[in-house]
Amino acid sequence: MTLHSTPKPQTAPGPLLQVRGLEKRYGSRIGCTDVSFDLFPGEVMGIVGESGSGKSTLLNCLAGHLTPDCGQVIFDTRTAGPCDTVTMGEPERRMLSRTDWAFVHQNPRDGLRMGVSAGGNVGERLMAVGARHYGNIRDQALDWLSRVEIAAERIDDRPSAFSGGMQQRLQIARNLVTGPRLVFMDEPTGGLDVSVQARLLDLLRGLVRRMGLSAVIVTHDLAVVRLLADRLMVMKDGRVVEAGLTDQVLDDPQHGYTQLLVSSVLQV
Ligand SMILES: Nc1ncnc2c1ncn2[C@@H]1O[C@H](COP(=O)(O)OP(=O)(O)O)[C@@H](O)[C@H]1O
Ligand SMILES: [Mg+2]
Repeated sequence: MTLHSTPKPQTAPGPLLQVRGLEKRYGSRIGCTDVSFDLFPGEVMGIVGESGSGKSTLLNCLAGHLTPDCGQVIFDTRTAGPCDTVTMGEPERRMLSRTDWAFVHQNPRDGLRMGVSAGGNVGERLMAVGARHYGNIRDQALDWLSRVEIAAERIDDRPSAFSGGMQQRLQIARNLVTGPRLVFMDEPTGGLDVSVQARLLDLLRGLVRRMGLSAVIVTHDLAVVRLLADRLMVMKDGRVVEAGLTDQVLDDPQHGYTQLLVSSVLQV
C-alpha cells in the first residue's frame, strides 16, 4: 500500500456576514425591508441611495445599534462560528463591537471623545480589549496616529483642536487600532471639503486594502463607492433595487433608479 500525502482541501472561506430578510420599521414607516446579502472576508460592500432610502437604518441594524423587526444578521465569530447577532445576548454583542467590529460615524463627534486627548482616544480602545502596559499603548497610539497622517506632536491635543479631516482620521485610527475584522462606515467623507474628502478616501482605501478589511460603507457619493467598494447595493424606499459588482452596476445600471443616480452624477 502506498501512502499518498493528501493535499489539504482548499475550501474557500465562508461569508463573514450573512444577512437574510432584514426589516426595520419605525411605526408604520419602513426603514428598510427585505434586505439579504453575503459579505466575504476582505470584501467591501457599498450601499448607495438618496437621503431617506434606508442606508443608515440598515447599517445600524447590521452593527447592532438598532434591533431589526425581522430577519437575521449572521456573523462568523472567531470563537463560536456563525451566530445571529440579532438574537445573541447583549454582552456578546458588546464584545463583538469592541473586538471584531468598528463603526466610523459621519460626524467624528459621534465616534470620538472630544474631551480626551488624541492619544487617549486611540489608547482607550486598546484598554477596552485588555491592554494595560502604558508604554505599549502609547507606542501603538503613536503608530496609528502616523498611519492616519497625524503628527506625533499632536498626541496630547484634544480632537476639538483638530480640523474636520483630522478628526475623521483620528476616528479611523481609534476604530482600527484593535484590528477589527468588519468595519461599518456611514458617510465617512460626508461633511468634509472636497479636497479633504479625496485625501481621506485615498487613506481609507490604503488601510482597507493593506489590512484586508471587510467593510460596509454607506454613502450617497458614487465616487466613494467607485474607489472603495467591490460590490454595490442600491437602495430606494428601504429596499435594495439593484446589486452587483461596483463597476458593472455603475457602468451598466439595469434599474431605472440606478440609471437616474448615475446620470445625475454625470450632469454635476
Ligand atoms: N428614528 C426614526 N424615527 C422615525 N423614522 C425614521 C427614523 N430614522 C429614520 N427614519 C425613516 O426611515 C427611512 C430611512 O431613513 P435612513 O435610514 O436614515 O435613510 P438614509 O440613511 O438613506 O438617509 C426614512 O423614511 C426616515 O425618515
Ligand atoms: Mg443616513
